[in-house]
Amino acid sequence: MQIIDGKALAAKIKQEIKEEVAVLKRNHQVVPHLAAVLVGNDPASQSYVKSKVRSCELVGFESTLIRKDDSITEQELLEIIEDLNENDDVDGFIVQLPLPKHIDEQKVTLTIKPEKDVDGFHPVNFGKMTQGIDAFLPATPMGILEMLKRYEIKTEGKHCVVLGRSNIVGTPMSILLSRKAYPGNATVTITHSRTKDLSAVLRSADIIIAAIGIPEFVTGDMVKEDCVVIDVGINRVEDSTRLKGYRLVGDVDFESVSSRCSYITPVPGGVGPMTVTALLMNTLKSAKSKMSA
Ligand code: GUN
Repeated sequence: MQIIDGKALAAKIKQEIKEEVAVLKRNHQVVPHLAAVLVGNDPASQSYVKSKVRSCELVGFESTLIRKDDSITEQELLEIIEDLNENDDVDGFIVQLPLPKHIDEQKVTLTIKPEKDVDGFHPVNFGKMTQGIDAFLPATPMGILEMLKRYEIKTEGKHCVVLGRSNIVGTPMSILLSRKAYPGNATVTITHSRTKDLSAVLRSADIIIAAIGIPEFVTGDMVKEDCVVIDVGINRVEDSTRLKGYRLVGDVDFESVSSRCSYITPVPGGVGPMTVTALLMNTLKSAKSKMSA
């Protein structure tokens, strides 16, 4: 069994981005700029956004963090988005999800200008992705594709089972793995809460993408020998032995699954760092596309 070291791979790609940014700065006076909007005090969201901003600093991007209390109205948030859409200094921006209940996430996503939607959530980018047209790919699936590519994991003809059908991970992942490309050309099954005999479906998988949001859901008895397991889950479970009072676990029971599979991503240190790296890659792409426009 080999561990797919997302943390190390992300560090390597960030170094590559840093070198490219230095050239852009030197030769074209261009500094990619990512802005992030964070509403409220959700601890996980705060931690993700902090990591995104820190990564920007690391590669030499400019970053702007806009923090708002969760009492912000939908209209006020939409105005912030409009301002970012019009701000030529900003190459791309994200609005961290989830948002407070009184704000319509769909409306927010639709307001972001597709050219700056480095999360790849806008239907224009999603539609382009679906049709194989160049677009910003959603960061988590994009990070996973990059992992599969850099570890030279074969996907062609493989049976890939995606656990979860969210707009952010499960659905785009299933589209990307079935497209005519590498990584892709897989036979994909997308599964969800209504799937019958999920264990049997999972046992037929050569590649499992677990994005269901249930701690340690996938256990060793549900997977085939030598399968590849990508664990997207980041779940906080109570742990009084830890300083913070919790530990992070994935959607996969690492211990029982890792003894059977050929490759596995750990949590933390697997998909998470690659998601942030993919966001940087999209922001760099946006900054470069503005240069050639
Ligand atoms: N919440 C969980 N994942 C993501 C992500 O990739 N982008 C944004 N904006 N919010 C998220």
